[in-house]
Amino acid sequence: MHHFLKQNPIAFLFFALLFLMITSCKSSLSGDVEWPAVGGGKQNLHYSPLEQIDTTNVATLSPTWTYETGDADTVNHSQIQCNPLIIDGTLYGVTPKLKLFALDAATGINKWTFDPYDTTQGNVNIPEAFNNCRGIAYWSGGNEKRIIYTAGSNLISIDAFSGKPDTAFANKGRLDLHEGLDRDVKDLFVDATSAGMVWKDLIIIGSRVDEGPDAAPGHIRAFNVRTGKREWIFHTIPQPGEPGQETWDDPNAWKRIGGANNWSGMSLDEQRGILFVPTGSSSFDFYGGKRKGSGLYANCLLALNVNTGKLIWHFQSVHHDVWDRDFPSPPMMVTVLREGKKVDAVAQTSKTGFIFLFDRETGKPLYPIEEKPVPMDTKLVGEKLSPTQPIPLKPAPLVRQALPESELNDLVPDSSYQKIHRQWASSRKDHMFAPPSTEGTIIFPGFDGGAEWGGPAFDPATGLMYVNTSQMPWILTMLERAQAPEKEDYGKAGQRLYKQYCMACHGPDRKGSGNYPAIDTAAKKYNESSLSQLIAGGRRMMPGFKQLKAVEKTAIMAYILGKTEMNEVRFPPQPVDSFHSLPYTMTGYNKFLTPEGYPAVKPPWGNLNAVDLNTGELSWKVTLGEYPEFAAKGIQTGTENYGGPVVTAGGILFIAATRDGKIRAFNKRTGKLLWSYDLPAPGYATPSVYSVKGRQYLVIACGGGKLRTKSGGKYMAFALPSK
Ligand code: HEC
Repeated sequence: MHHFLKQNPIAFLFFALLFLMITSCKSSLSGDVEWPAVGGGKQNLHYSPLEQIDTTNVATLSPTWTYETGDADTVNHSQIQCNPLIIDGTLYGVTPKLKLFALDAATGINKWTFDPYDTTQGNVNIPEAFNNCRGIAYWSGGNEKRIIYTAGSNLISIDAFSGKPDTAFANKGRLDLHEGLDRDVKDLFVDATSAGMVWKDLIIIGSRVDEGPDAAPGHIRAFNVRTGKREWIFHTIPQPGEPGQETWDDPNAWKRIGGANNWSGMSLDEQRGILFVPTGSSSFDFYGGKRKGSGLYANCLLALNVNTGKLIWHFQSVHHDVWDRDFPSPPMMVTVLREGKKVDAVAQTSKTGFIFLFDRETGKPLYPIEEKPVPMDTKLVGEKLSPTQPIPLKPAPLVRQALPESELNDLVPDSSYQKIHRQWASSRKDHMFAPPSTEGTIIFPGFDGGAEWGGPAFDPATGLMYVNTSQMPWILTMLERAQAPEKEDYGKAGQRLYKQYCMACHGPDRKGSGNYPAIDTAAKKYNESSLSQLIAGGRRMMPGFKQLKAVEKTAIMAYILGKTEMNEVRFPPQPVDSFHSLPYTMTGYNKFLTPEGYPAVKPPWGNLNAVDLNTGELSWKVTLGEYPEFAAKGIQTGTENYGGPVVTAGGILFIAATRDGKIRAFNKRTGKLLWSYDLPAPGYATPSVYSVKGRQYLVIACGGGKLRTKSGGKYMAFALPSK
């Protein structure tokens, strides 16, 4: 210690205090509270210490500025899912077309915009791809500041002051996410929907990959923020000699199987240097005959050493997943009371409506998790299911996990009820983990949860964890896949290949499925060139299909565009890839709906849940969202919802997320609704809460588009009326 300080305890105290103030990272030097990372911080608590907006005045909350990105595409149902960052009085976000922008966070006035696809801005020419971007990352070092985000397959580093690419990073500011995966994946689909995690000079990133048989592996990579050099990799599908490889029956699985990717984001315990990474299923999602075994590290919560990428512990939530039960949201760093002691824990939500809680250091569950027997009687040839699945005994599941007859939607006319009843009766529905089947298996909780990508919030003051959930049943129907006959014309080949590559989303008759659009009239909108570009590059939730051979693509396009003249032309036989041509495909991501379009299950269809993590008990639960036609009759149904909540020290829980397009404020202790506002388009995103010059703001991206709702291009900020 410095001599002067040793002699002067008062000065020492002063400097110690100053040090504490400077290093406490939540507030900037101005005293304002920032939103420096997705989820409010690297712990992902969705929490703000601000208390200017509180339970007594929130009713007067009003719009204060609106930023129109000008990028909404109502024809193509564009979306904005971004949770914007606020750093040093500047707000950073993305538009529906993935332009990155900086605004004065107090006024919404634009400072700069960066367009990744505008080559006149000195950009590398890359094909346009409008993936969903749920967040962006911020790095600073010395006087430098960067925003790092993903557009298509490119991780892009932008100078936060000028909005220009950092040309020292990778290839003139862009890093191709196909690179550095220790496998040749140049023809496979790779992008990223979630922000990377910044730690020192590392940007650590997961990926979104194909859900079909031709998928890139979801390895976790850390790149140097300044150069783009890969610093470490964690193989989520272990390679020879790495632990976990024995969980794959086929020792060559790592060369050919993809998925096991982290698409949902990560959290960091900065003090311990532990990175928490949830992963999704391996591919193909719904048939596991070519990927037998429990398949580590798919469907896992991974605790990695953030400096090296080495595994500390893991927990697998679904063994040999054939239901697409990815971990859907970033975990949270929480502190809870267990037997009178404070325990630093990690909390993870699931699509099945469970909350898993572990000791951060050891991975020991805070509540018992039991391996319970599940049905194994699959009729799909070559499939082998896991005999058990892990079930936490506490907290209780937040959603219903079965669809008995008594839960069928009876709010509809008899004729509709009979229709859903018939479909229900002919489907498998005996268990949450009932095997996929050709007659149809009810998936409830559904493919989109339970809990979803918005992620939960945690209030350190009350120990309450807030999770928004949807309750929508889906039906998974497997289909034997036709193999290529010896002789075939383009017309037939087009249909066959459509079933192999496209039907899973666009349905058997091209009429769409679930949240995926109909394309039976695509010929009106697309010509060969625009369709070819879409198929190669993908858009938002549609992956690209670069792996298609030119003739295969021509055949699919002839089918989609109705080019009957190709019907008579002989299709050249293609070599069969016996590994990737699976015996089964599925007919689409089909929601189980009434003819009117309501969920086939009784309400509630959407909820907000508050769980006391100290006791594991539900503290309160309310419906989230309305259908006006039911609300008018006094029936609160809730709606499907996407996007997460934010909780504040002012006693408020803010959330949009619902299809009715409102943003709401609830009393965080009771769940009482205190305020709501009709957004210009639904806010399928998580709001951010921050202050500038002492004034508290709430901001939300109003991108709409999902659930076939209206698209929008605005970010809206709210504040208390100025006095
Ligand atoms: C994983 C799901 C998925 C698969 C598989 C998929 N698509 Fe799509 N597709 C989508 C989504 C989602 C959209 C809407 C994209 C958007 O948000 O603009 C879309 C959009 C389209 C559109 C444009 C629709 C419009 O109205 O503009 C066409 C055409 C299309 N897909 C063709 C295909 C073809 C051909 C294949 C197979 C080679 C395919 N898709 C495979 C999900 C999928």
